[in-house]
Amino acid sequence: MKRRLYSGRDVNRAHSIDDLRAMARGRLPNFCFEYIEGGAEDETTLCRNRDVFNDIAFLPRTLVDVEHRNQSRMLFGQRIASPFMIGPTGYSGLMFREGDVKLASAAAAAGIPFVLSNVSTVALEDVVRRAGGRVWMQVYMYRTREFLAKLAQRSQEAGIEALVVTTDSAVFGKREWDLRNYIKPLMLDWRNKFDVLRHPRWMSNVLWPGGMPRFANLGDLLPPGQNSVKGATITLGQQLDPSLSWDDIRWLRDLWPNRLIVKGVLGAPDALRAVEAGVDGIVLSNHGGRQLDGAVSAMDVLPEVVDQVRGRLSVMLDGGFRRGSDILKAVALGADAVLLGRATTYGLSAGGQSGAARAIQILQTEVDRTLGLLGCSDIAALDRSYLRWPMLSPALARSHAGGEKDALSIA
Ligand SMILES: Cc1cc2nc3c(=O)[nH]c(=O)nc-3n(C[C@H](O)[C@H](O)[C@H](O)COP(=O)(O)O)c2cc1C
Repeated sequence: MKRRLYSGRDVNRAHSIDDLRAMARGRLPNFCFEYIEGGAEDETTLCRNRDVFNDIAFLPRTLVDVEHRNQSRMLFGQRIASPFMIGPTGYSGLMFREGDVKLASAAAAAGIPFVLSNVSTVALEDVVRRAGGRVWMQVYMYRTREFLAKLAQRSQEAGIEALVVTTDSAVFGKREWDLRNYIKPLMLDWRNKFDVLRHPRWMSNVLWPGGMPRFANLGDLLPPGQNSVKGATITLGQQLDPSLSWDDIRWLRDLWPNRLIVKGVLGAPDALRAVEAGVDGIVLSNHGGRQLDGAVSAMDVLPEVVDQVRGRLSVMLDGGFRRGSDILKAVALGADAVLLGRATTYGLSAGGQSGAARAIQILQTEVDRTLGLLGCSDIAALDRSYLRWPMLSPALARSHAGGEKDALSIA
């Protein structure tokens, strides 16, 4: 019999993120699945985000007592249950009704933070109130700075822990596979219209009774009544500010008293600028391969960034994480935490909150198992001496191997 991923409806029968992806593909109309799945142009960066993990191999220790294992760690002065969180994904309400609340609730139940996208369909105050847990708010930089100031104010009043400013989207990436589903902006072609009709389960969950979900956190930015996808897309296109600079980050730093994080850094020089701008953390990210095609993967630059800024701000990253072992490779290279994009979106799309919870559970179990197999009982002890990576120079490896002799074997 041919090997097949599980693609039924019971999320508990999903054994991997790939199973949840197969389930999502079955439940979602093609245009929604493509919105999640696609990358920019030739998808070189999208592929690199996955391929990079194959270039890094583990060097496990044997005969180590791993009966009790710990994957929790501190992030911004509080413990997170696992070294990962749910990152911002826009328009989650298109995958599942009130998708933002479902994702946030799954994260809170699992003891990890949730980052709410600015392009979300549930008001940030409702997400915080209904889900609890640690909620961070992602924002883009808009020409109308007063909007940002108001959003920061709202976020502070709602108890948002951190603002995450996405800086890689001043200009939109060209996602051609997504574009091909439309005959003109936001008008699906006939093939896709028929395909929607073939997904009544999705239609009754997402479209009934109110039609396409509307944006809930762009309030003052959009003209009255223009919070539909169509209205918002036009305004957003005009509002995204390509003149964004580090001065704007400094402006936001003065305005926002809680944690400030810049998402979209891809190299040590910008990481150092982030330190100078006084931010608390960075997310190394190429936006899941959806913006600049041909860009490096965050994993490619992680070691050099960590070496430059360790101890001065928190270094997080995203892009291509689908396995617990991927997450541990990043942690071994010095990351404080990983953000999940598609992994939890597949879960949400496959089965709402239980699907998202299943994605988290799969990854937590994989992290735990991998720690055991590595012969490392505490994530705090994981470092570069557990890795063999041709791109990791012996000098770099030694600088973070805690002086252990076997670090020299990394060449
Ligand atoms: C469907 C989708 C929507 C996204 N929306 C946003 C967004 O609104 N804001 C943002 O900063 N990043 C957004 N991203 C990028 C993610 O935050 C993250 O950088 C990326 O998905 C990580 O790669 P991965 O999907 O391979 O894990 C989105 C990604 C996807 C797949």
